[in-house]
Amino acid sequence: MLVKLRDRVQETVLAHHPFDLVGWDGFCYPWAFSIHDFMPVVGKVHLPPPVHLTFTAPGLVVCSFVPRLFDFHPEAVPIPYAHSNVDSDEILYYVEGNFMSRRGIETESLTLHPMGYPHGPQPGLIEKSLGAKETGELAVMVDTFAPLRVGRDALAADDPAYPLSWLEGA
Ligand SMILES: [Fe+2]
Repeated sequence: MLVKLRDRVQETVLAHHPFDLVGWDGFCYPWAFSIHDFMPVVGKVHLPPPVHLTFTAPGLVVCSFVPRLFDFHPEAVPIPYAHSNVDSDEILYYVEGNFMSRRGIETESLTLHPMGYPHGPQPGLIEKSLGAKETGELAVMVDTFAPLRVGRDALAADDPAYPLSWLEGA
C-alpha cells in the first residue's frame, strides 16, 4: 500500500490483503455501512444537507438522515428551508420515524423532487417545528447529477395528491 504525503511516498506492506475474505455471501459490494452507525452533525442553526453526506459515487451522492438533536440556537428553525436543487434530482426514502418537514409522508414513502423544483416544509410546519429539540427520523437521500426518468412501475405507485400537499389546508 502506497501513501503519498506531499512529495514523498511511504510504502506499507500488510500481512494480508485488506479484502481477504473468509467467505462470500454473494454480494459484490466491497464493504457495508449501516445507517445506524452514521454519526449526525448538529449545529447552532440549521446546517445544509452536505452534513448528512455518507457516500459519493460518480453521478450521485447518498445522504443519511438519522435520529439527532435539532439546532440549539434559541431562535433556530429546526426544519429545512424551502429550496430547489439546481444541480441534482433528489430522491428521499423515508425509512421510519416522524418526518416533520413533510406532511402526508408515510413510512416507506419515496419522493422525487426534480432539479429546479422548489420544495420545503408545507404551510404551517415551520411554526409547528419551533422549539422541537430532536427528531427520530430515519431517511436516505440520493441526489443524482443527471436527470432521472420515471419508469412505468414507479408511475403506477405515484401519489397524485403529493404536489398538492403544499396548498393551504391540504
Ligand atoms: Fe430537497
